[in-house]
Amino acid sequence: MKDDSLVTHAGNAPFENHGVINPPVYHASTILFPTLAAYRNAKTAKVRYGRRGTPTSHALEDAIAALEGGSGAVSTPSGLSAITAVVTACVKMGDHILVTDSAYQPTRHFCQTVLKKFGVEAEYYDSAIGVGIESLIRPNTSVVFVESPGSLTFEVQDLPAIAEAAHKAGAIVIADNTWGAGYYYKPLALGADITVQAGTKYIVGHSDANLGVAVWKDSEKFGRIRDDVQSMGICVGPDDLYLALRGLRTMGVRLPRHFESGLAIARWLKARPEVSHVMHPALEDDPGHELWKRDFTGASGLFGFVLHETDQTALAAMMDGLKFHGMGASWGGYESLLIPTNPNSSRSATRWEIEGQGMRIHVGLEDPEDLIADLEAGLDRLGAAGK
Ligand SMILES: Cc1ncc(COP(=O)(O)O)c(C=O)c1O
Repeated sequence: MKDDSLVTHAGNAPFENHGVINPPVYHASTILFPTLAAYRNAKTAKVRYGRRGTPTSHALEDAIAALEGGSGAVSTPSGLSAITAVVTACVKMGDHILVTDSAYQPTRHFCQTVLKKFGVEAEYYDSAIGVGIESLIRPNTSVVFVESPGSLTFEVQDLPAIAEAAHKAGAIVIADNTWGAGYYYKPLALGADITVQAGTKYIVGHSDANLGVAVWKDSEKFGRIRDDVQSMGICVGPDDLYLALRGLRTMGVRLPRHFESGLAIARWLKARPEVSHVMHPALEDDPGHELWKRDFTGASGLFGFVLHETDQTALAAMMDGLKFHGMGASWGGYESLLIPTNPNSSRSATRWEIEGQGMRIHVGLEDPEDLIADLEAGLDRLGAAGK
């Protein structure tokens, strides 16, 4: 099945539900068993207690596992909980893990606080390291955590080279696949063992629910992750699962629009005198472009750029008058967003050397001409208020 058919149908079983197309929203904690024998066999039942999964969660997990090319999946209440639960399931006291320096900041925070408390040491590596990761692997390295492209700065990583080196040393490769959404990037086919996604972004797609999903390639090796995640009591509310399933069905029309408009706006920004850099791997002169072309089939609507102007009053003049670009955390919804960033505040192995004001933009589904007009007026205000 091609991905557009898969996101449309995977996980649905209409004739198990009176022909109803969408999986019903099962609100359930207690599940009843008709006989004592069935109750005693509950462990083998696919549905045995609400927290352990319902037909609604199974439908979403089956669909995302199929999209990522995995053999199993587990859903969690946020993207961050998918990351923290899966990393926790893959490490033990005394381990060392390697995390890309370009990782989403709360991933780093978790490593520096919770993991550290349990005697797991996280070391950060340059996202450009590729096969050079070999030199950082220690006998106790259990996990290599990849996020490609990276948060805020959008460097593409050489996942196959990293995975080969990690596997030689027996380490597990976990990839945060939120940007590629399982639609434009298939880390499991490129060597990762497990992917995690903030379904909050492009799966949900409407900025109205938090959700995470972890998918593993090999259920024999990693199927235990479901048990570990469930042992932590992690489960998702049924309405959020439903919103994610509903969002997923239109991913195949939303993402190409984010890609097309995003790239058009990246090119437009690049030509503006106020902008010194645009970090978008689909741009031909982006340092990650060759890897992106090799490993990705498209790009999401999220990328970065840098303004020459660093005066904060001028920046406020630009931002406060925007009509279509909202200011707020997260991304992946239908709407455009724009926020200032400071990449150096969340890296330690490398320094972001580019001078200027970092920005992160999410190009939504609005008409790109309206978005460009909004940005143009903003850049004009920036220029007029600047020093
Ligand atoms: C790359 C990436 N991973 C994970 C997350 C976490 O997702 P959530 O907000 O659902 O916890 C985010 C959120 O912004 C993200 O950008």
